[in-house]
Amino acid sequence: MSARRPLMAGNWKMYKTPAQTAEFFEKFLPLVAESSHADVLICPPFLNLTAAAGAAAGSKVAVGAQNCHWETKEGAFTGEVSAPMLKAAGCAAVIIGHSERRQFFGETDATVLKRTQAALASGLLPVVCVGERLEERESGRTGDVLRAQFTDGIAPLEAAGFAKIVIAYEPVWAIGTGKVATPEMAAEAHRSLRALVEARYGKEAAAAVRILYGGSVKPDNVKGLMAQVEIDGTLVGGASLDPVGFASIVNF
Ligand code: PGA
Repeated sequence: MSARRPLMAGNWKMYKTPAQTAEFFEKFLPLVAESSHADVLICPPFLNLTAAAGAAAGSKVAVGAQNCHWETKEGAFTGEVSAPMLKAAGCAAVIIGHSERRQFFGETDATVLKRTQAALASGLLPVVCVGERLEERESGRTGDVLRAQFTDGIAPLEAAGFAKIVIAYEPVWAIGTGKVATPEMAAEAHRSLRALVEARYGKEAAAAVRILYGGSVKPDNVKGLMAQVEIDGTLVGGASLDPVGFASIVNF
């Protein structure tokens, strides 16, 4: 057993209204009320954050956003939301650099870094996503891709900042496809990420950083993934929308 406390996170993507958010929490909270083995985080769309934070108040479930802007105060950035706003709305965390943001919204390692720094400055826990695409894996470039994403998007952080982030390894070919990485495949990627962390920040930081796996995590495959000592939790998309299903993932 590693000393790292598991983090079971749900990424709702662009799903659910505020009313559906309230319904979810009503069903979900009693199912995880006794779950003290892990941190639990739900990341709904911006519009639902207030409803989620209100519903989760007084429970052990934390609420996070799916993105934040890098400007740390306020400003003329139409359509964006800042980290201090998220904090004020009751967020504890924020997902940064999800592959869908990289694929559809021009997110780069450089903007991932800036957003992460803004999140840290506001006291939010950044969950920074990395992962290779199918053609990159098939051409044997997984290690290179992870190294580049780490080097440009994460490694410029100072050690004190790095100590406050979580990394999520999400192979793009496994997201929303039902094709989960085998526990061994995921563990191998986690080991290479941890080696990069050790080379940059040292042994202690490498032993302490939590690395989540994401990509088609379901109630029936979570146990095998979590049995890997390298896997410190999961970032769950589709299967986090159902309160019963996500509770059974949390309670793996
Ligand atoms: P999925 O998504 O669980 O639906 O594959 C994971 C993610 O995108 O974080």
